[in-house]
Formats: sequence, structure tokens, C-alpha cells
Amino acid sequence: MKPFRHNTRALGDSLLITGASQLLTLRGRGPRRGQSLSNPGIIKEGALLVRDGVIAAVGTRAQVEALPEARSAENLDLGRRVALPGFVDSHTHLVHAASRTEEYERKIQGASYEEIARKGGGILNSVNQLRAATAEELKKRAHAALKQFAAYGTTTMEAKSGYGLDVASELRILKLHKELAAEQPLEIVSTFLGAHVVPEEFRKKAHGAKRYIQLLEENLLPAIAEHQLAEFCDVFCDRGAFNVAESKRVLQAGRQYGLAPRMHAEQLSHTGATQLAILLRAASCDHLEHVNKNDMRALGKSETVATLLPGCDFHLGLKKYAPARQLIEAGAIVALATDYNPGTSPTLSMPMILSLASTQLRMTPAEAITAATINAACALRREERIGSLEVGKQADIAVFEVADYREIPYYFGVNHCWMTIKRGRVIHASNESRN
Ligand code: NIG
Ligand code: FE
Repeated sequence: MKPFRHNTRALGDSLLITGASQLLTLRGRGPRRGQSLSNPGIIKEGALLVRDGVIAAVGTRAQVEALPEARSAENLDLGRRVALPGFVDSHTHLVHAASRTEEYERKIQGASYEEIARKGGGILNSVNQLRAATAEELKKRAHAALKQFAAYGTTTMEAKSGYGLDVASELRILKLHKELAAEQPLEIVSTFLGAHVVPEEFRKKAHGAKRYIQLLEENLLPAIAEHQLAEFCDVFCDRGAFNVAESKRVLQAGRQYGLAPRMHAEQLSHTGATQLAILLRAASCDHLEHVNKNDMRALGKSETVATLLPGCDFHLGLKKYAPARQLIEAGAIVALATDYNPGTSPTLSMPMILSLASTQLRMTPAEAITAATINAACALRREERIGSLEVGKQADIAVFEVADYREIPYYFGVNHCWMTIKRGRVIHASNESRN
């Protein structure tokens, strides 16, 4: 076996990964519901053989080392650390121009998120900031964030537009997703969120929402489809944003242009967005703080993933978290994501989301990890390629400097990610792992 050198290996080589005290495979046919969220498929003293960035074998060290190919492979020894599939962050607003710290302070002093939004702050504040930002500034900020995502163990992420809200600015964001995907190793799944809120210039017009939706249908969606700039279409269906009928129209239009639906649903109030998501066979409906029993029952019978974003409630200081336990009991496909954005969840740390899921949503560490890997891969319709460590899947791996996987959420607010591997390549190595 040849010793491993960081970032020097070409993708054509084979790589033998050993030294995982616990290898969380998340094996089994996804998606996971109910009881099956609790089984991370742990192999003690686990090992992997990776060929061309794809997993060729998984098992115990003895099993994998016995394979003839293992002898000529380069060896990466994880030094008795915990390895799991790289996190799939299935809900982010990656591209934005700046933080919203003044609003943060006002919220701490008692102003609500919706009050601030009604006074022209909130999303519209970020829209003004983005429209004024240069391409270079946006790209620099996004690249810095992507590096951090990788440093916390994320290997695939979704990214939404939605801070442009005019033709040129929305296209700018979506084109930037494409450039970012090509310029760095994380996989970026692009979502069009033109229907985030009605922009300022349309609010003054009669039938402003309707005319804005027309703009999305007639000017934006054709251009997005022509240049293949997005895979999904999202809508913020809530009080102060779009109602169910408007959301349905946007998502159906998106589908006509080949974009699969997903939704922001029941975040600030109960609107019926979840039922719409299920009706439209959306890939996922996200937030769900205000879902009711009927919605939960329906989610339990549907393929639409229920993505929970506890970072929002934490950041906004809200007490009402999504009813994760009831959703799991109802049989919903529960996933977790950061919702990285400047207004409600300025974190890019999936380990922090696991901590919040454990203490606030009452999900066990195993359930939270399942929700952040294989179920999140389902939310991005990529469960055939990512989300678990199984033969034929991409070698996307997060390695943690812990003795037991439960310590990942247990140690909150610190980063114990030791190494991140994307398609068999090291894309992040902590200082300790470089020594
Ligand atoms: O997911 N809910 C809508 N969108 C974001 C918030 C966006 C913002 O405040 O900038 C969310 O919470
Ligand atoms: Fe969001």
C-alpha cells in the first residue's frame, strides 16, 4: 500500500480508506421513515475501497484489505476517527450580498421577523443589497461560504436564487451557481426561487403579485430552461409572501419548463402549503413549524420529503420548532438542512443543525444523521448517487475527530470535522490532519 498524499492523487487511482473506528454507512434502500431512521448501519473498524471517486467496496478492514485491488491502492488512514457520508444540505440561500445584523439586534430587542419585513426590511433588504453588489463581491462571499460548508463536512448542497427578484438579478444568481459549481469541489444543486416575495416595484402596482408571477412565467422561466440554470422551482408560500393559489401557479409553470417543485411551507403560519406540495409531488416541503395532524398524516403517505430547519427557530429565538417526533411517527421522510441565509439562519454548520435537532427537535443523533444524509439526498433526488456509503455511490465522506458518532451533535458550537472527501478527493483537512 502506498502512503496517502493530500490533493496529489489523480481520480483514476484507487484509494483504500482504513482506520474508521465507526463507519456509518447509512446502507439500505432510501428513503428512511419511522424506525429505520434510527439505524445508521455502523461498521466497526470499517474500511472503503474507492475507484475513480466511486465506492468499490465497503466492509471491515479485514474484508476490504483482502481484496487484490487493495494491495496496489493508496492508503488513507483515518486514525480511529468516525466516518460518515458527507452531509447533504438540501436547503440554502447561498448567494446573498451581506449579513443583516441591524435586524438581528432589533429582533433581540423584541421586533418580530414579520414586522421587520412589513417595514421593507427582511428579504427586500437583502434584495437591495444584492442588486447593489458587484459580481466579484457576490462570488467572493459565496466561495468563502462554500469553503466553510466543506470544512463542516458538507459535500453536496442546494442553492436558491431569490434575492434578485428581477430578470437580470435572478439570472445573475443562477448563473453564479453554475460558475461556483465549476470552480470548486462541492456539488451545487440549483433552485429557482423567483417567488420568494413580491419585489418592491410590483407592490405599488395594481395586481402586483399577479403581474410579478407573469414576469416569472414569461421572462424568467424560459431563460432558465434555455440555459439549464436550475433543476428545481421553489416558492415561499406564507403570510406576507405568496398564497397557495399563487404558489400552485408558479410551481406548475416551473414544471412546464422542466423544474421539479419544492416549497417553503408552514413556516410563519399554517397556509395549506404542505397539502399543495404533496398534490404536486414536490421533492420536498421545508420548515413545517405550523403543520397540522392532517398534513403529517399525508406526509407519512407521500414521497415528498419533510425538511426541517431548526436553525431558523434558534436564530429568531422562537419557541415553536417543527414537530419532528410526530412527523417521524407519522412515517414522513424527515430531512434536516441549514437554510443558510442572512435573515433567519446564518449558519452553514450541519453539525450545529444536528445539535439543534437533538436538543430542540428531540431527534436522536442517529435519526439526525440519517435526516442529514440519505433523506436529504432524497430531497434533492440524488439518493442513487449520494447520502450513504455503499458500493456504486460517490465517495463523499465526512470524518470527525470524535470517539463516538453521538459526540457530533453532543459537542455543539465547535467544529470537529477532521477531513472532508468529495468523489474520493480530500477537499478539506483540519490543521491537525495536515501534521
Ligand atoms: O427560509 N422563508 C423564506 N426564506 C428564508 C428567509 C429569507 C430571509 O429572511 O432572507 C427562510 O427562512
Ligand atoms: Fe429558506
